[in-house]
Amino acid sequence: MRVLSGIQPSGKLHIGNYFGMMRSMIKWQKQSELFCFIVNLHALTSLSDGETLARNTLEAAADFLALGLDPELSIFWVQGDVAAHAELTWILHNHASMGLLERSHSYKDKIARGQTPHHGLFSYPVLMAADILLYQADLVPVGKDQKQHLEITRDIAAAFNNVYGPTFTMPEPAINENLATIPGSDGQKMSKSYGNAIEIFQPQKELRKVVMKIVTDGRSVEDVKDPDNCNLFNIYRLFVDAEKEGELRERYLRPGLQYGEVKKELADIIWNYFEPYRERRESFSARPDDLRDILQKGAQKARAVAAETMDKVRDKVGLNY
Ligand code: ADP
Ligand code: TRP
Repeated sequence: MRVLSGIQPSGKLHIGNYFGMMRSMIKWQKQSELFCFIVNLHALTSLSDGETLARNTLEAAADFLALGLDPELSIFWVQGDVAAHAELTWILHNHASMGLLERSHSYKDKIARGQTPHHGLFSYPVLMAADILLYQADLVPVGKDQKQHLEITRDIAAAFNNVYGPTFTMPEPAINENLATIPGSDGQKMSKSYGNAIEIFQPQKELRKVVMKIVTDGRSVEDVKDPDNCNLFNIYRLFVDAEKEGELRERYLRPGLQYGEVKKELADIIWNYFEPYRERRESFSARPDDLRDILQKGAQKARAVAAETMDKVRDKVGLNY
């Protein structure tokens, strides 16, 4: 089975990315043919600072490798290194109806948040469809925010298959409902672009600061608290087992709990959780050429798989003459 997913290097990777997507991708590498890539072409839709994009791309690669992605067990590369993504996107544009793209929540959200409505943003889901269909992926592990993008991908694949005959595999999303949307420090979906992210690898002092800023309700120490609607609780529970979660829940339901205390505990818990990976992370970021080498080898493998699909597609649409 082919499992595939990508992540944007539009900022530093955060715990929403980790629990929403990275952790399950790393698990899949032992039981599937895994395709994992950094989608720098997608990041161009929101980032127009070349140096930052280049730096973030290498950092995202270092994060993934430090956390356990094995480039020998998987195909790990950078989207922009494989030209076929852009080529297939153009072909698929002709099978992506305007109405379909106009219904995209992600596009509407981005505009509502003040991004300039440009064409890259509008056709973002077509590039994502190309990413997935190019490798004939069966399963795509993502967070809940990507569900509609998967539906659009399936629509585009069906439209193309309908015209040219069976060509693309229909991909299924793999969304862990329990971890579907990790809240950020302000309670909205954690995102690199919302300024509410808790990064996976950040200096301890900064980590503490961000955790102390997690928004909680105005209940006083003596009040009984509501764990299920508490952002702090919902982040804390990601890092502990069921027993520890139960203990915290009980503390919430008894008077005397101070949110500040829970935040201090959480900052230490997060720090310790990622501790085993920190040394590897530093070692990778100190060796950018080795990282580039790993990514180039990955791109070579990806190109070979992409070429099989492109050959078929170019034949069918008449680009091979
Ligand atoms: P961001 O919104 O931070 O830019 P991406 O769009 O690059 O993140 O998302 C990469 C992957 O991480 C996707 O599969 C996405 O669904 C998942 N993801 C991102 N943020 C969250 C979150 N807050 N909760 C769960 N999954 C998330
Ligand atoms: N749109 C995805 C996100 O923002 C990233 C992405 C691009 C992706 N191409 C993909 C995810 C292909 C899965 C498969 O998270």
